[in-house]
Amino acid sequence: MDKIIISMMAAISLDGLISIGESSPVTFTSLEDKALLREKIQEADCLLLGRKTYELSRSILGKRSCIVFSRSASYSDLNDSVINNLHNYGQKFLLLGGSQIYHWFLNRGLVDELYLTVEPLVLAQGVPLLSDSCRINNLQLISVKAINDQGTLFLHYLACKQSLQGRLTAGSV
Ligand SMILES: NC(=O)c1ccc[n+]([C@@H]2O[C@H](COP(=O)([O-])OP(=O)(O)OC[C@H]3O[C@@H](n4cnc5c(N)ncnc54)[C@H](OP(=O)(O)O)[C@@H]3O)[C@@H](O)[C@H]2O)c1
Repeated sequence: MDKIIISMMAAISLDGLISIGESSPVTFTSLEDKALLREKIQEADCLLLGRKTYELSRSILGKRSCIVFSRSASYSDLNDSVINNLHNYGQKFLLLGGSQIYHWFLNRGLVDELYLTVEPLVLAQGVPLLSDSCRINNLQLISVKAINDQGTLFLHYLACKQSLQGRLTAGSV
């Protein structure tokens, strides 16, 4: 079986927030970040999103294949069996959040790489990228790029490698 790659992508403010409120679309990111997001969406076989993020960002997703996580029957449950069957949807997965869904994947060690845009502004109040109980270990910085003249940075990290089965066995929370 080909290895599944789960790439997480997020844009944050300097104070580590991903939006001003859980019902708010992302309005603080630069044109350059939006272009990178569109590029990564095109490259992925399938997108992974929480129900709230999906409902707020349908316009940018186009007709791309998505797995939307929800506790309601209309979407997908989020559990180990869903993750074990990801190979049915492709090999390259782009994890687009929001916070609850990032948290679930990070705490199970399921993220292979992280693309993080840091926008040079402070939102002060809103949804954090990571909660206090979020575990994120062994990141290796691959690149940092200034993507515009306003000071927006695009960071690429690799996470430590483990087999998907090993990560599921070791990481249940
Ligand atoms: N800046 C960025 O890069 C970025 C990226 C993504 C999102 N955002 C922002 O983040 C905010 C949304 O984030 P969020 O954390 O509030 O919501 P979210 O993660 O997008 O979605 C949360 C929903 O996912 C479902 N869910 C969560 N845990 C689950 C589990 N264990 N099993 C099954 N379903 C589960 C639930 O859906 P049900 O309620 O239907 O059960 C829950 O309400 C929005 O403001 C969005 O614009 C920003």
